[in-house]
Amino acid sequence: MKQKVLVTGGAGYIGSHTCVELIEAGYEVIVADNLSNSSEDSLDGVEKITGVRPSFEKLDLCDKDKVFDLFRKYPGIEAIIHFAALKAVGESVQIPLAYYHNNLESLINLLLAMSEFGEPGLVFSSSCTVYGQPDVLPVTEKAPIKKAESPYGNTKQICEEIIQDALKANNKLSSIALRYFNPIGAHKSAHIGELPLGVPQNLVPFVTQTAAGIREQLSVFGNDYDTPDGSAIRDYINVTDLAKAHVKAVERLIEKKSKHSFEVFNLGTGTGLSVLEIVNAFEKATGVKLNYKIVGRREGDIVKVWAETTHANEVLGWKAEVPLEETLLSAWEWEKRIRNID
Ligand code: UD1
Repeated sequence: MKQKVLVTGGAGYIGSHTCVELIEAGYEVIVADNLSNSSEDSLDGVEKITGVRPSFEKLDLCDKDKVFDLFRKYPGIEAIIHFAALKAVGESVQIPLAYYHNNLESLINLLLAMSEFGEPGLVFSSSCTVYGQPDVLPVTEKAPIKKAESPYGNTKQICEEIIQDALKANNKLSSIALRYFNPIGAHKSAHIGELPLGVPQNLVPFVTQTAAGIREQLSVFGNDYDTPDGSAIRDYINVTDLAKAHVKAVERLIEKKSKHSFEVFNLGTGTGLSVLEIVNAFEKATGVKLNYKIVGRREGDIVKVWAETTHANEVLGWKAEVPLEETLLSAWEWEKRIRNID
């Protein structure tokens, strides 16, 4: 019998890539998603790649009764990966209560269900945003948590605290929080990828849409930062590499490899790259010239952050592998496929 993993937000960008890696590692996957920022098409993509369609439940995790029904319908879930969340930094400033309600309530309902239905392990999608602008780079998991810059970032911090409190109250529960740096790229098959609604807020989707002619020009937000070329620096991690880390985390929880009930891992490459370096690497990888201009800084942006990945490398047994140019090319191949560009 295959081990069952519940993937909330499994129709989303990182979720769908993780479904692929879980299925390929031999797990049975159940997706719960309210499709608020995703579509079932991504499950078609998962099926095309793996030959297996995950079970799908359209569900609002803020509804506790429905969450409990889900666990009754699929008995024996051994691990949960909780991706489902609102995630737009700017929007979270406009509608903070929607962010607190959705991101906190859904987690609380899952934690309640975990105590009730056999204590499956929980992998939680966290973010490097919890570090704010770190004082020391690369940033380790031990770096202090800074005051959140946005309600979105605050929900990630609070969720990590809620999990730790719930674990203290029930010593049979266990969880791994994965702090993502900047996930980019698409599956190498181009069957799944990132599909933001409306104008993309994140760099790489804006780059690929500009290359595809959907956006006229990429704005590079600031070239007067204290960095070698003046543009801001991030740690861009390939989404399939990121998905593989979730499989490692699930294995670790199911096999109870850790002495600790709560663990945190940074998921990045360990290398910081500037916005202009990404632009250049994209042009080199794809042969497409990007129309871009330098504009002012974007409010709320930090200057630079990249991950210390030793903990994930040594303890989780995971390392980023896909080279940047391959990752950028995969993002472009995906964009071309969905826009019918040759
Ligand atoms: C932010 C959050 C991250 C969150 C992610 C999801 C922080 C520190 N990070 O990442 O936790 O998960 O959003 O949305 O809050 N850029 C441009 N032009 C553009 C778009 C972006 O120059 O059109 C630049 C940004 O200024 C930044 C870099 O590209 O320097 C990356 O931006 P983005 O992809 O939006 O990610 P973060 O802001 O790092």
